[in-house]
Amino acid sequence: MTLGVNIDHIAVLREARKINDPDPLMALAICAQSGADQITIHLREDRRHIHDEDARRIISASPLPVNLECAIEPSIIDIVGSLRPHRATLVPEKRQEVTTEGGLDVVGNFELISNAINKLKEHEIEISLFIDPTRDAIEASERLGAQWVELHTGSYANLYAMRHSALPHSHHAIDSLKLSRHELDNKIEQAYGELVDAANYARSLGLKVAAGHGLNYQNVSAIAQIDTIEELNIGQSIIARSVFTGLATAVMDMKILCQR
Ligand code: PXP
Repeated sequence: MTLGVNIDHIAVLREARKINDPDPLMALAICAQSGADQITIHLREDRRHIHDEDARRIISASPLPVNLECAIEPSIIDIVGSLRPHRATLVPEKRQEVTTEGGLDVVGNFELISNAINKLKEHEIEISLFIDPTRDAIEASERLGAQWVELHTGSYANLYAMRHSALPHSHHAIDSLKLSRHELDNKIEQAYGELVDAANYARSLGLKVAAGHGLNYQNVSAIAQIDTIEELNIGQSIIARSVFTGLATAVMDMKILCQR
C-alpha cells in the first residue's frame, strides 16, 4: 500500500500567524526518508493553507511525486495546468466547510469535469477524481477518462470516531441521530462494505484506486487490508501526531499501519 502524506496542515499552522514558519517545504525530505510515497497538497480557492507559491516550490523541489488536489473551477484548473504536478485530484469545494465533506458530483458536473480533465491532460497530468464510494460515481469516472478514483472514507471515519472516541463530535451531522453502539457497529460495517464494493468495482473497470479522508492511526488498518485499494492519502492525523513525535516518527508509524 502506498502512502501519500497530505502536508496542508503544516501550512494551516503557519497561517495561524501569517508568517513563514513552519514552511511546508521542510516536510518533503523528512516524508521521503520516512516511507512516504507521495506528497499531497490542496490548493483551495480560498487559499486558507497552501498558496500558489507553496505549490510551485513543493512541485519543483519534491523528491516524491506530488498529488495536487483542486476544485473544478476553470481558473484553478489553469493554475494547476501551469504548475504541472504529477497528478491532479479533482475535489468538491465549499467555502464554509471545515474540510472536504463529500465526493465530487461526477454525474451532475460531467461537462465541467470533462473540460477540466481535457485541459489537465494537455499538460500530461494524471487525473484522479475524489468520489463517494458508489457505482454511479465510478462508472462516470471511467467514462470521463480518469486514471484514478480516490474513494472518500469520511463516512467510515466519522462513524468510527463516534463509536470509539469519548469526545463529542458535534460537527458530524449524523451524530444527532444518537445511535447505540450496536447500531454504530452495523453502520461502520455497512460503510466499510461500500468501500470494499466500490474499490473492487473500480478496479474491475481498470481504474486505479486510492482512498482517503479522516483516516488515522486507529481506523486505517482495516482500510489498508482492502487489496484493490493501492494508495491512501492521509493528512490531519499525521501532522497532529507529529506535534508530539516529530514528523519522521509520525510518517513511519503510519506507513507500518498501511502495510498489508
Ligand atoms: N484526500 C482528499 C481528496 C482530501 O481532500 C483530503 C483532505 O484534504 C485528504 C485525502 C486527507 O484527509 P485527512 O486530512 O482527513 O487525512
